Amino acid sequence: MSVAAVELRALRKVYRHRHGWGRGSAETVALESVDLDVPPGELFGLLGPNGAGKTTVVKICTTLLLPTAGTARVLGEDVSQAGRQLRQRIGFVFGGERGLYWRLSGYDNLRYFGDLYRLPPDRARRRIDELVQLVGLEGRIHDRVERYSRGMKQRLHLARGLLHDPELLFLDEPTIGLDPVGARDLRQLVRGLADRGTTVFLTTHAMLEAEAICDRIAVVHRGRIIAAGAPDVVRRQGADLGVVEFEAVGIDDRLVQRLRQLPGVEAVQVVAGELTHRVTVQCPDPASLVLQLGPCLDGALAVGLRVREPTLEDAYIRLVAEPAP
Ligand SMILES: Nc1ncnc2c1ncn2[C@@H]1O[C@H](COP(=O)(O)OP(=O)(O)OP(=O)(O)O)[C@@H](O)[C@H]1O
Ligand SMILES: [Mg+2]
Repeated sequence: MSVAAVELRALRKVYRHRHGWGRGSAETVALESVDLDVPPGELFGLLGPNGAGKTTVVKICTTLLLPTAGTARVLGEDVSQAGRQLRQRIGFVFGGERGLYWRLSGYDNLRYFGDLYRLPPDRARRRIDELVQLVGLEGRIHDRVERYSRGMKQRLHLARGLLHDPELLFLDEPTIGLDPVGARDLRQLVRGLADRGTTVFLTTHAMLEAEAICDRIAVVHRGRIIAAGAPDVVRRQGADLGVVEFEAVGIDDRLVQRLRQLPGVEAVQVVAGELTHRVTVQCPDPASLVLQLGPCLDGALAVGLRVREPTLEDAYIRLVAEPAP
């Protein structure tokens, strides 16, 4: 059997931080106990809301952070003992704009990182040319990075992460801050990498992203994995639910609270739009909920009411709305 790309067992991370001089210290349990297996060749997505522990998992797997307890094996090596050898076999890209030299061109950034990875100059040159094509930066690679858009910086980050041709690539929120088209293009790029044999471990809080490209996903919540499998399988965790959705005008916290207390309601999500709020209610019996809505809304205007099948996002909302097991 081939060695797992990532294998986490009872992985625990507690951050200790000082409150300030003489005021003692506090602890944050970022990972309670995480078990996870990612086989080689997979495009795997770790999902979870803000603060769930996604970045912490990636930092441990990439040897940037030591676990408090439990084990993390990456490409067969225990990360607590691994060093340079493992780092040569993995690549990582953390979301955001840091980590590039803004006054250098994209090309010179890649050359600099090629030196860090100790790539022979000839090989570095060939590899940079290949990657510039792959990430679609041909026309702009000699511009200074400070003139790049966010999407271009993210593409350059990806090229940097791939310079040494890693077997396994970690991407922490790769599409954060990108517009829908930029995000879609980047997703296609990542899917293409996986199709050509690179194992990819990405984190995201965007369900659609996971559904669009991942072979398998796991949902992390409050430092534990609460669901894992193919996106379809995770979606089925919401299969016994119906979803009622509408646009509401004049809805406030008090009304949302009343909605939450209606019989059978499992979760209510409210997303503010420009003029209206989009309200999504999950419940096992949408027909009876619709009948109760009128009196409950108490004069607030609901338009565009519809009942639909649950999506992966609904399953996710349900999972993270429940108290962790
Ligand atoms: N250096 C640190 N010191 C103290 N606490 C930390 C540190 N880094 C993260 N945490 C805490 O650990 C928990 C998990 O954080 P982490 O960054 O792993 O979450 P995340 O899932 O990546 O969130 P996000 O979606 O916001 O990026 C959070 O409660 C966070 O506040
Ligand atoms: Mg994070």
